[in-house]
Amino acid sequence: MRGESLIMRARSIKERFEQVFSHPAEVVARGPGRVDLLGSHTDYNDGFVLPVAIDLEVMAAGRARNDDTIRLWSNNFGELSRFSLKDIAFDTEARWSNYARGVVKFLRERGNGIRGADVLIDGRVPIASGLSSSAAIEMAVATLFEALFNLDVPPVELALIGKRAENEFVGINTGIMDQFASRLGKSGHALFLDCRSLEYELVPLPTEKVKIVVADTMKRRGLVDSEYNRRRSQCEEAARELGRHISGVRALRDVTAEQFEQHRDALPEVIRKRAEHVIYENERVLKSRQMLQAGDLAGFGRLMDASHDSARDLYEVSCVELETMVWAARKVPGVLSARMAGAGFGGCAVSLVPSEAVKEFQRLVAAEYEARIGVKPTFYVCETADGAGTIPVLSAEC
Ligand code: GLA
Repeated sequence: MRGESLIMRARSIKERFEQVFSHPAEVVARGPGRVDLLGSHTDYNDGFVLPVAIDLEVMAAGRARNDDTIRLWSNNFGELSRFSLKDIAFDTEARWSNYARGVVKFLRERGNGIRGADVLIDGRVPIASGLSSSAAIEMAVATLFEALFNLDVPPVELALIGKRAENEFVGINTGIMDQFASRLGKSGHALFLDCRSLEYELVPLPTEKVKIVVADTMKRRGLVDSEYNRRRSQCEEAARELGRHISGVRALRDVTAEQFEQHRDALPEVIRKRAEHVIYENERVLKSRQMLQAGDLAGFGRLMDASHDSARDLYEVSCVELETMVWAARKVPGVLSARMAGAGFGGCAVSLVPSEAVKEFQRLVAAEYEARIGVKPTFYVCETADGAGTIPVLSAEC
């Protein structure tokens, strides 16, 4: 059912491409959004994360050109952005195009034979909701170019190119979790990732019993860039300070809970809270892998709850909308967990809900949320998805 609708969507994007560019697309690629089940603000501390790729995705259709021009059309914004491969600059008008521009720039720097292309982008990942629409665009465009120009880039390297685009081109200093999940996720699995070594493991998730329900608070993330960067530097300060007492600390990832407890008083209060969140969150992610392997979903849900509470109390990245949503979700009988998704400050909450309770969950949570916040939330009952790639059925038709 999902597979069919994906192909139908790819077909309609291919048709749209022909309307916009007056010639057929050669390739259609997709990049999924992601939900982090665990690992809140641990990635840029060289720590551990556990996201899943989801079936809300960005699609990119494309055709190679014989010159150096890239023409990008956004279906979402109804806008064209055009540039030359010889001069890939930040676009202050069509800001959506910068994710693609950055990816093309760094793919090109890798020294491979990219030429110009016409590209149509169509996104179904809600923007600024904590589901990583930006990584989804980056990975859709990267896999599109990979296929158009036979580049054959190892998946981990492609994720790193997406991260560079985000950090060095768009200018947002995020970690590797989102691009990694969008490229290397796998249907039916959560992805356990060590953000330092980039070693990863796909851990099976029993998705027939339990659904991943994402509830959008409809509050677009505010303050996220400045607060995000502030959290990053507070973590760096914590690592530096703890490094005076513990040898070999390059990042908070290197501090165990035991060491932290011994030296916590050396840190100023706010810095101590940030460090405490990250250090215990890393422990939770490590524990969660074992729990999932043992099929202990209830225990896994408790770790997700603890992760949210710690992100709220110690990392201070929640808001009244997220708190109301999480509170309403946890009240529904049978729900295993509810926590914020992504960076926080608004966006979505993610809950694990027994399959048979999904309808009732949406009804009860919507009623509570609307009564208190005055806004109707949107729900996405997500399936886990494979990481970015091309949609093969189309190449036969081109
Ligand atoms: C955003 C960033 C990620 C990660 C999360 C918080 O989604 O893009 O790299 O830091 O916030 O866990």
